Amino acid sequence: MQTDLPTQLEQISNGLAERGYAIVDSFLLDHEVGDILQTDEFKNGKLHFKKAGIGKQQDKQINESIRGDYIQWIDPALAPACMGVYFNRLRQLIQYVNHDLYLSLKDVEVHMTIYPPGAFYKRHLDQFKSDNHRKLSIICYLNHDWKEAHGGQLRIHLPEGPFDVYPLAGRLVCFRSDQIEHEVLPATRERLSLTGWIVDRNLSVPS
Ligand code: OGA
Ligand code: MN
Repeated sequence: MQTDLPTQLEQISNGLAERGYAIVDSFLLDHEVGDILQTDEFKNGKLHFKKAGIGKQQDKQINESIRGDYIQWIDPALAPACMGVYFNRLRQLIQYVNHDLYLSLKDVEVHMTIYPPGAFYKRHLDQFKSDNHRKLSIICYLNHDWKEAHGGQLRIHLPEGPFDVYPLAGRLVCFRSDQIEHEVLPATRERLSLTGWIVDRNLSVPS
């Protein structure tokens, strides 16, 4: 199935305006997900990714009880072409929502993410208390053949109650970083994604 990007961008923008979140399938096609998984960056990920932190929290044990994922930031200027494709789509998303929702979003930062089996991320908001530049959270999942029995749901908490999103390959989830509380439940298999934020300032390369 061919990605119909204009329709997807419209769905995301409408979802953000009406509900504060949107979920779109096949934002990346199966072969595009496959290419990303074949990059050295991802294949070596388990060796080189760093344990993700929370804010300025340095205490490893406290950190472990909150989140157990491993991350590696992507420098878009050096990224393989298959990741460049993804960055391009996100830049088109920025243009679309700026125009459609009168926002002034400027840039996007993305890291590769690995949750080993059993890892989770407790309920949280993505916007830092000390830094409100993260406006939209954007996650694209990279897990072929994911079954509900594998767990690993993203649980989105809304005033009317929670609901679950499974991390299926190519699926994009986008939500307001300042408003939508969410958590990642443990999975029985490794759970891979590209996790990013659209920000309202120009970024230098994240370190
Ligand atoms: C995060 C996060 C959700 C997911 O990295 O902040 O909440 O589904 N990720 O991976
Ligand atoms: Mn989050």
